[in-house]
Amino acid sequence: MSLAITNIGSLVTNDQSAGTGILGEIKSAAAVIENEKIVWVGNSSQAPDADQQIDAEGKAVIPGFIDSHAHLLFAGERSAEFQARMKGEKYSAGGIKSTVAATRAATDAELEQNLVALIREMNRSGITTFETKSGYGLTTLDETRALTIASKHTPETTFLGAHIAPVEYAGKQDQYVSLVVGEMLDSVTPVSKWIDVFCDEGAFDVDQSRQVLQAGIAKGLLPKIHANQLSQGGGVQLAVELDCASADHCTHLSDKDVQALAGSNTVATLVPGAEFSTRATYPNAARLIDAGVTVALATDCNPGSSYTTSMAFCIAIAIRELGFSPEQALWSATLGGAKALRRLDVGSIAVGQNADLVILNAPSYLHLGYRPGVNLVQQVIKSGKTIYQEQK
Ligand code: NIG
Ligand code: FE
Repeated sequence: MSLAITNIGSLVTNDQSAGTGILGEIKSAAAVIENEKIVWVGNSSQAPDADQQIDAEGKAVIPGFIDSHAHLLFAGERSAEFQARMKGEKYSAGGIKSTVAATRAATDAELEQNLVALIREMNRSGITTFETKSGYGLTTLDETRALTIASKHTPETTFLGAHIAPVEYAGKQDQYVSLVVGEMLDSVTPVSKWIDVFCDEGAFDVDQSRQVLQAGIAKGLLPKIHANQLSQGGGVQLAVELDCASADHCTHLSDKDVQALAGSNTVATLVPGAEFSTRATYPNAARLIDAGVTVALATDCNPGSSYTTSMAFCIAIAIRELGFSPEQALWSATLGGAKALRRLDVGSIAVGQNADLVILNAPSYLHLGYRPGVNLVQQVIKSGKTIYQEQK
């Protein structure tokens, strides 16, 4: 089955050999999909015949967003904490504990229902690939069930047993780390692709974080890290040392951190929803991009620090507050996210790529920042199939 999307006013390909600028933009474009893949991209007037057609009526088409950082396996919510922060209270890693209690008390069915509801929100917001972490179970059983549920819905599953030491390990952090790198890791390995650790004030220090990531690497998991969210610690340096696919948050960076990232294969994943919701200072993306660092944008969707599934919201803040240009923000939310997940098959609209794309109800991707808070997603196609269509 082939499908041609014709009459695209502005097509963002992320293929610089196909169009102009970093987004490889083509005006008056068409893209043809066969089964799950893109088979043709070019000028609309030259589009080959296909079994089915969508007339994009001059609207913009972009690659599906790639959310490379989210925490979707949880129960409960923490709006009261948000309220307190808006009155001036500081965010601390400790809030995670209340979600851990709610998550442990939830049934498998409840956890999966919550996950599926969040995936639907993500799809409506144009996200076609997402990663999700565990990290709110913190027992072998609870981490394993979270990742087992997650693995039914995405290949990008991340073991975050080292999110925080749970209450029953208060004052016994090293013992908890032993549990994480021992029995817990053994149990989750079959359902995990990635290993992550919260390396920060109130969570795990650099030595503990190194131990966790190295244990995961030894089991064949790929490393990534929560780094420098709450303080300018050694998380980013550790990310580079261990060739982590990404160092996530990067809210507080020294010049040395920026240089280390620039000379590495580690993507800096910025999550402005977290600074927004915790009233933290936004990182300076221009400083990273100018230094040559690859930068991704992700939602960090979680009930504590960033309860959003809207990539468009993250893009709008990135442009307004973090020093992204509109084109760089879109690149970071698409191909940048693919690089943070070390995926080569998604993030661009080019021949051979997965057919994951979004038709916007707007003539240009610029409207993502220009019309903040408005859902401009008209239709979302993943692997050639429509997974969301706006009701008229
Ligand atoms: O990425 N930083 C660590 N973990 C989450 C927040 C978790 C929570 O507050 O529930 C984050 O922001
Ligand atoms: Fe996170």
